[in-house]
Amino acid sequence: MDAENKLYASGRNPLFIKPSRPLPKEVAIIGAGTIGPDIGYYIKSALPKIKLYLVDVVEAALKNAEKRYEDYAKKAVEKRKMKEDKAKEILQNIVYTMDYSQIRNCDLVIEAATENIPLKQKIFEAVENVVREDAVITSNTSSIPADRIFNKMKRPQRATITHFFAPAWRSLPVELIRWEKADKDVVDYLFWFFAQTGKVPIITDNVLCFMLDRIFDNWCNDAAYLLSHGTASQIDKVAEEFVGGGPFFVLNMANGNPIITETNTLQMEEGAHYKPAPIFASVEKWVTHRPGAKVEVPANVKGVIRDRLLGILFSQSFDIVDRGIGAKGDLNYGCQIALGFKKGSLDIMRDLGEAEVNRIMKKFGEDRPGFPQPKASFSSYQDFKRFLLVDDVDGVKVITLRRPEALNAISDEINNEILSVLKAYADDPAVKGFVITGYGTRAFSAGADIGKFPQTLGNKEAAKRYARDCSQVQLFMDNMKKPVVAAINGMALGGGFEIAIRCHGMVAMKNAFFQFPEITLGILPGIGGCIVPYRKWPKGAKLFHDMICVAKPMNGQEALDIGMVSKLVDDYPTLIRAAVDEVKNLQGKVKGVPDGRVEIPEFSIPDPPMAGKQVLSREAVGIIVNTIRDGAAADTFAEALEIGYRGNAEIACTEAAKEGISAFLEKRRPEFKK
Ligand code: COA
Repeated sequence: MDAENKLYASGRNPLFIKPSRPLPKEVAIIGAGTIGPDIGYYIKSALPKIKLYLVDVVEAALKNAEKRYEDYAKKAVEKRKMKEDKAKEILQNIVYTMDYSQIRNCDLVIEAATENIPLKQKIFEAVENVVREDAVITSNTSSIPADRIFNKMKRPQRATITHFFAPAWRSLPVELIRWEKADKDVVDYLFWFFAQTGKVPIITDNVLCFMLDRIFDNWCNDAAYLLSHGTASQIDKVAEEFVGGGPFFVLNMANGNPIITETNTLQMEEGAHYKPAPIFASVEKWVTHRPGAKVEVPANVKGVIRDRLLGILFSQSFDIVDRGIGAKGDLNYGCQIALGFKKGSLDIMRDLGEAEVNRIMKKFGEDRPGFPQPKASFSSYQDFKRFLLVDDVDGVKVITLRRPEALNAISDEINNEILSVLKAYADDPAVKGFVITGYGTRAFSAGADIGKFPQTLGNKEAAKRYARDCSQVQLFMDNMKKPVVAAINGMALGGGFEIAIRCHGMVAMKNAFFQFPEITLGILPGIGGCIVPYRKWPKGAKLFHDMICVAKPMNGQEALDIGMVSKLVDDYPTLIRAAVDEVKNLQGKVKGVPDGRVEIPEFSIPDPPMAGKQVLSREAVGIIVNTIRDGAAADTFAEALEIGYRGNAEIACTEAAKEGISAFLEKRRPEFKK
């Protein structure tokens, strides 16, 4: 069965869920080893006011955890990632204990003990004896299916698996297992809870090793079998084409050898081909190099290693898709955010092409008989969205930009995917319209992908072409009959805001804000940002001057006052509801951006121009002012857009653009000279 239908009973964007219970006030983590305290630290950072209990049977582990928390908080403050008072709050209200009776008021208990079924069962018994009947209980097992560890519980319906990845305080993904005894409400609540607290929950089927560890464990296991062809260092080097750190480097970091033996022994229930490599039993540390070091690998050795590593990666990926263990998009994305792959496994297949993948799989079948081979056509494994979730709500396609690691910044691929969804349903009579929103609670989108900007710097033609190419979604929306409504769930910046203003309607959360930070990068919003706002909401012209020239943010209320936003709401589910309603209101009433000249007020920009404490470039501000003026004076919207692209081209050739963009990418403050 298709994974999406099987696993996502309530929609793929977890924040659509109206939670059946509030955020927890007290949380317990059982097990103060490696990952337990890190899970606790993530929850305490996301919800600093809660009371956290860290439970272990070994006092030294609790002491170590306490010290680790202090170090994490200190580092975060030193790196200016956290304010001092927040760090203090995080470190307060933590109980380090060996006494289960203390956790009696916990709303959520996460077990993160050793992978041992009788031990886990004992823990659940102890937990169930003290907590309320409605407390949610989860296990962080990375391999044991839910029915095996929860089978002795009195109320297994409130239990499931929540599998974190290292380092759990920072790593985004959490596998959340849907199994037959768990209440739908409990799984839905956890799905919502993780997204609400900044994680990316991925719902996975209840099979041995779930989804992503099937990739990781077998990748490492086959790497060990490859030791008859090359050294650990050579194998790591070949793997580095695809991952940040090779399998042996990662195993060393995680003391992972016993884990692979354990998890692959479990997987042998599916066939002897999963047998763990015997060498794991006799090696503690591998002799390998730090990622990136130079290592010679003869071409023939490289070929054998590369084919085998790709073979096992593809075999597991095909199997996951064919058995509906996880959704294609989650598999591809999970490989990147959980396992450190530079591209998802399905991306690697796409880039190699069908013939090469077939060759690799044929060879893999000969070398490693028994392992899964693809069951469907090559193209069917590529038929998914890499950066979008697409949900259907009352006949409206709700598109969620899912790239939270970059605050949903818009890459070319995201643009192409949005366009492909709009095109696919633009003429479908069953679809009333579209909503575009962002994943998570922080951002609708933090703008266009700044990483791509350097390519166009200093080249007028390239910069103009780039702005035009990036406008395809907007130009398509200009000609649509079906409404597209932006649901602004957090910050809407730069290129993200330029998508929102081109939608036919906009609703927002009360705490959302809008900003054109481009001038702080020495550039301007080139995809209609200097043009569209003045034509659609002339009442806001003065505010738009400040936004574009000195990066002043606009809040939700201001957006409502000028008519840019039609409704402000308090929470995410209401936001989506309001956006879907707005799509319905706008049926048959979609208006294009007006032609004709528009009156704009005079500019009053301080000298030197400043955005907060940042001195801006006079030259860049000058180009912006001219672009806005000329755009407003243009007779048609199409001409005005061209003026905007021209402004983009001109500013891309300034020293200011070079300095601003380099400074962002080098994570420093820009220093504009003129
Ligand atoms: N393009 C590419 N990546 C972006 C991005 C963008 N527009 N905006 C944010 N990101 C990335 C960051 O580089 C960072 O990645 P990293 O973790 O690999 O370093 C990640 O998203 C998180 O952002 P970070 O800056 O660490 O978060 P923060 O809370 O400290 O700051 C912002 C948030 C929005 C103030 C800051 O990210 C920012 O200024 N972004 C650029 C906004 C902009 O100028 N947009 C207009 C471009 S058109």
